[in-house]
Amino acid sequence: MNFDPFNELGGGSALRFDEGQQDDYCLPVASHSPETERLDYIHEVYKYHAGNVPEEVADILNDGTTTKILDVGCGTGKWALEMISAFPNIHITGVDLAHPPITVFPPNFAFHIHDVTKGQEYENDTFDVVHVRDIHAGMPDYHAMLTECVRVLRPGGYLLVKEIEWIPRLLDGGDAKARFPAICSDSFRDALSERSLDPMVGVNLKSYIDNVTALKDIQYSRHLVPMTPWSDDPILHYTGQMTRLAMAILGGTMRIMLLDHGESDPDGRYSAGIEELKDLSGQPIWVFGSIIAKKEGEMSSASDHLIENGDREESE
Ligand SMILES: C[S@@+](CC[C@H](N)C(=O)[O-])C[C@H]1O[C@@H](n2cnc3c(N)ncnc32)[C@H](O)[C@@H]1O
Repeated sequence: MNFDPFNELGGGSALRFDEGQQDDYCLPVASHSPETERLDYIHEVYKYHAGNVPEEVADILNDGTTTKILDVGCGTGKWALEMISAFPNIHITGVDLAHPPITVFPPNFAFHIHDVTKGQEYENDTFDVVHVRDIHAGMPDYHAMLTECVRVLRPGGYLLVKEIEWIPRLLDGGDAKARFPAICSDSFRDALSERSLDPMVGVNLKSYIDNVTALKDIQYSRHLVPMTPWSDDPILHYTGQMTRLAMAILGGTMRIMLLDHGESDPDGRYSAGIEELKDLSGQPIWVFGSIIAKKEGEMSSASDHLIENGDREESE
C-alpha cells in the first residue's frame, strides 16, 4: 500500500498501515526512511553509552553454545546484526510489527511479524536472553509486555531493557524549559498519554521492573547523553552529534501523532526546536534508563533445555 507515514493521517487518527496490516503504533515503522536513519543514529548512542550487551552477558554468548536471544520490537535489526557479527554462535529471533529494512538475513537471525501487545508466541523458558529497547510508544500495558518477556525467558536467563526518559534536561540541573522551550514542549508526552501510553516508562523503568515477579539481581543505571555535540570528550561529542541528527528527524516521526493530538503546527514548533539545538551552549542532555536482570532459578541454557526435550535443530 502506498502510504506515507510522515505526511498522511490514516482514517483520521495516527493509525498506520503497513504490509497489509493495521495497528495502533503511533510512530512510523522502522523500515520507513527517515525513521530507519533516526533509529540507527540512536542505536549508536545506546551502543557508545552502554554497549550492545553488558560484559556479564557477553561472557555467556562467548561460551561456545548457541545462545537463543529474543529481540522484542527489533526495529531496523541493527542491534541484532551487530550482535550476530560479534557473537557468531548466537541465534536471534526478532519480532516487530513490520519487516526490518534488511534484504539478506544471516541464517541465525529469524524475523517474525507479531504484535507483542497480544503476548509472546513462544513457550515458557525458551530464550537465554530477552532484549527490549525503546518500545514503550507501542505498549499500552508495559507491565504486561515485561511479564511476557520474563515468561519466555529461561530461569537464570537475562532480561535487558532500555527506555528513554522523554524529558530534556540541562547537565547542570538548570531550567531546560526556559532555555530550550520548543524542544521541551509537553506535547509529545501529552499525546502519548492521550493514547493510553505511559510517557514516563523511561523515568519509572526501575519501578516497572521491580513490579515484575520472578526477577533477581536487578541492576539499574541511567545514562546521560548530550543532545548536541557540545562536549570535548570524543565519545560524548559523537553521541551528541548522533542525537542532533536523530532530533532533526524526530519532528517527522511525531508529526502524525501530534496532529492527531490537536497540535496546529507541529512542523513550526519542531523547526524552532531544531534552531534551538544549533546553540551549543547550555549543555542540553537526554537520559535513558538501562536494566540488566536475571530470571529466578537456574538452568544451564535454553539450548540445553531443548536437547533434554530432544527437539534441538540439527543445524545448531
Ligand atoms: C522506537 S522503535 C525501536 C526499535 C529498536 N528496538 C531499537 O532500539 O532500535 C520501536 C519499535 O517497536 C516496534 N513496536 C511497536 N509496537 C509494537 C508491537 N505492539 N509489537 C511489536 N513491535 C512493536 C515498532 O514497530 C518499532 O520498530
